[in-house]
Amino acid sequence: MKDIKLHDKTFEIYIPETEIAEIVNSVATAINNSGVEKPLFIAVLNGSFLFAADMMRKITIPNSEISFIKLSSYQGTESTGKVNELIGLNQDLKGRNIIILEDIIDTGNTLEKIIELFQNEELTSFKTATLLYKPKAYNKDIPIDFIGKSIPNDFVVGYGLDYEEIGRNLPHIYKLKN
Ligand code: XMP
Ligand code: MG
Repeated sequence: MKDIKLHDKTFEIYIPETEIAEIVNSVATAINNSGVEKPLFIAVLNGSFLFAADMMRKITIPNSEISFIKLSSYQGTESTGKVNELIGLNQDLKGRNIIILEDIIDTGNTLEKIIELFQNEELTSFKTATLLYKPKAYNKDIPIDFIGKSIPNDFVVGYGLDYEEIGRNLPHIYKLKN
C-alpha cells in the first residue's frame, strides 16, 4: 500500500483497517466479558474519537454510558511530558464504574493525570482500555486493564491519531518511515 505524506514527514502503513477492526472487537469482547455493570466510558479526546465510536457499537453491556474529556501532552512527534487539562468532567462520578478509553498510552503521563483528576471521586471501580500501548515508553506503575495492541516506540498516525493535527481521518494506522 502507498506511503502518505503529512506536513514534512512520510508514513508507511502499519495496522490496516481490517486489523484495527479485529483489535477493537477483541477489546470490546474483553470488556463485555469482564462482568462490569452499568459502565461509564470516558473517552480521551481528540485521538480516541474513532476508537470510542467503534468500541461503543460493540459494547453489549446494558445501561452503558459514554462521556468525553480532553487533555494534551504531545507536541509534534514527541511527548512533552506536560499534560494540560482542557475539558474536565462535570457529572457526578460517585459509585460509578469508570472505563477510560485511550487511543494510545505512551509514557503514561496522560493516564496519571486522569487518575489525579478522579482521585477525590468515590468511584466504585476504575479501569483503563487503550487501542495501542508502547510498553518501552511506559514509565508508570498504573496497571492497564484492556490493551488492544502493544507496539514499539514508533510514532503512529491515522484512525484518530494525528501528526500536528492532521492524519486523524486516515482509516489505517501508519508509522513514521525512516
Ligand atoms: P502519554 O505520553 O501521556 O501520551 O502516555 C498519551 C497521549 O499522547 C499522544 N500520543 C501519540 N499521538 N502518535 C500520535 O499521534 C503517537 O505515536 C503517540 N504517542 C502518544 C496521544 O494523544 C495520547 O493520548
Ligand atoms: Mg496528538
